[in-house]
Amino acid sequence: MSERFNNAAAGWDKGDMRQNIADAVFQTIANRIALNPSMKIMDFGAGTGLLSFKIAPMVGSVVGVDLSEKMLEQLEAKNSDELSVEALYHDILASSLGREFNGIVSSMALHHVADTAHLFREFYAHLKKGGFIAIADLEEEDGSFHTHGNEGVHHFGFNREALRKLLENIGFTSVRFHEAYRVVRESGTYPIFVLMANK
Ligand SMILES: C[S@@+](CC[C@H](N)C(=O)[O-])C[C@H]1O[C@@H](n2cnc3c(N)ncnc32)[C@H](O)[C@@H]1O
Repeated sequence: MSERFNNAAAGWDKGDMRQNIADAVFQTIANRIALNPSMKIMDFGAGTGLLSFKIAPMVGSVVGVDLSEKMLEQLEAKNSDELSVEALYHDILASSLGREFNGIVSSMALHHVADTAHLFREFYAHLKKGGFIAIADLEEEDGSFHTHGNEGVHHFGFNREALRKLLENIGFTSVRFHEAYRVVRESGTYPIFVLMANK
């Protein structure tokens, strides 16, 4: 799976689609959650940092967690004295980071993780009491979203009600969904939600 993203890393930020998704996801989050400079944020599956670098100016720190060295190299190359995101190669499904966050954000990484329940339990464990998650991914689709094949794609989008039940069973409160963006192609329209909840 990391091979897929290592190969894609150099060209990841080219073209409009991923930039547009990250913009829309950021706006959806920032319009609803009062981000502030005291906050420590994790961006799960941060990749090249498209979402991380939009959040970073509004909070205290952002850690971009990923399992692709090449994607993280692209992220690190964007760091400057004025604005930086910590690039962290770490599998939170295998071991805890040993840090707690005020918020966990993520864009388009959830469908690349096979065990969704395990991931949300780890998100819960890495959150401070009162913290939030804001997780963007695809509504259920027919498998045609990934035009370069479905290797490493473990879910063809998600059913909102199934996610709601899963999160409530873990202990998350105020589970809510907001539509952030629609990718429109000849093959179909692919809506993207942001799932928000609190610990
Ligand atoms: C579709 S990309 C999205 C990258 C970025 N969030 C964006 O919006 O451009 C998914 C990212 O999730 C990462 N990823 C997949 N499974 C992961 C895991 N278990 N832990 C951390 N990162 C993971 C991949 O390496 C990849 O960089």
